[in-house]
Amino acid sequence: MAVVDSADEQPEQLIPWATGTSGAAWRASDAYAYEQDPVRFLSEAVGRCGDTFRFGRNAVFLGDPDEVHTVLTETGRAFHTGRDILDGFRSSPDEITALWMRGRRAGRAGLTARAASAGAHRMRERIRADLAALAGRPVDAVDQAPGLCSRAALAYCLAEVPDALPARLATAAVRLTGVLNATLPVPAWVPGSAAHRARASVRSLASVLTEAVEERRRGGEGGHGDPDLLDALLTDADASAQDARAALQMIITGTHVVPGAALTWLLAELATRKGLLGSIRAEAAARGMDGELPYATAVVKESLRLHPPVWLMTRDVALPAKVAGYGVGPGDQLIFSPYLLQRDARWWDDPDRFRPERWLDELPARRARRAYIPFSGGARICAGYRLGLLQLTLAVALLATQYTVEIVGDVDLTPTYESVLAPRRLRVRWDPTPAR
Ligand code: HEM
Repeated sequence: MAVVDSADEQPEQLIPWATGTSGAAWRASDAYAYEQDPVRFLSEAVGRCGDTFRFGRNAVFLGDPDEVHTVLTETGRAFHTGRDILDGFRSSPDEITALWMRGRRAGRAGLTARAASAGAHRMRERIRADLAALAGRPVDAVDQAPGLCSRAALAYCLAEVPDALPARLATAAVRLTGVLNATLPVPAWVPGSAAHRARASVRSLASVLTEAVEERRRGGEGGHGDPDLLDALLTDADASAQDARAALQMIITGTHVVPGAALTWLLAELATRKGLLGSIRAEAAARGMDGELPYATAVVKESLRLHPPVWLMTRDVALPAKVAGYGVGPGDQLIFSPYLLQRDARWWDDPDRFRPERWLDELPARRARRAYIPFSGGARICAGYRLGLLQLTLAVALLATQYTVEIVGDVDLTPTYESVLAPRRLRVRWDPTPAR
């Protein structure tokens, strides 16, 4: 990828989108085929057109891990992360980005390994209590896993979680996802529209967080005992209470839907793969729950490889640039798929097989590492990737040490290719492991 300096330079033509043998432009039947099974549609298109092709009028698909890596690295310069789904609800895109990046920087201190011990302890106890509360009965995993994840992450981020927060976060996250999934988006200023309701729930979430920030400022840093993410945000000398609230809100909004889908897939793997729970249990028994759990972590990484919740990602082109040798410019959108990259036989041995050992025995080759982006990459890599990995590893290890997991009734593990990849229907039940 290279940014094109001169506006006069003529970009090369992209390989045209080809249907059948005609090499014609995008047709209505393509839209139908895409909606039916987007992954199949895109893989067939890669087979016909190669790794890079124009798709529809302004979309450019990228299938080469090195090109995707460069685009992720250049995000913030030649490329942007996309539109504000609530129609510029807060302020101009530049202000939003500046606030966002500032919040990310300040939040980093609260999301690193140094902050992890107190946070991880709170999170582990939360997961343990939530698993116990749901044990011994059928659990709709698609429905319950997001709440499990966000309560765990909130316990990590905040030493004291306001009572109203988990429910308001769940409502806001589900409504925002509804707006993202809508095929016909109606603007947020239209009363009763999905975006309008999402905006109201985001406001309601903001009001609980504003109170939490005010209270913390009155009480003083560390007054509650354990250091947490909010302390880290408030110790940034230049941050106002409003900045701290906005940054906290940005970070915790990511704790619900996406990690929930990741946990749902893990539950499906644990319930259907004989011997998996036993191997995780043996590791946890040998190493204890406080240290590293390489096998449990490998199970999580392998599940994220086969089922990346964010299965499709986009970047808007901000400046004229060349991608894979082709010219793109403002108005174009780049599209790439962690799902396709992570199951591509060119980079992965036996790509469709669930094999956690691939993360233990041998380090994946450089190309494969670039083809592994469940948390994205570059400056806009998932702000909570360490926390996400930790919480999923803890959830898997706690389930394995205390419970057996089985499927209940009919399942449908066909993925929903909406803004998040999740199984359509999964009910599981975990029962305490009988004493030996
Ligand atoms: C465990 C599973 C998780 C996965 C697979 C995941 C995946 C992702 C991906 C792929 C992106 C980037 C999307 C893009 O570039 O278009 C992202 C962004 C983000 N994630 Fe996560 N995430 C997870 C957990 C979390 C958690 C626990 C948090 C909060 C603590 C979080 C907070 C965020 C935030 C704030 C962003 C936006 C970052 C930015 O644009 O600067 N995520 N996540």
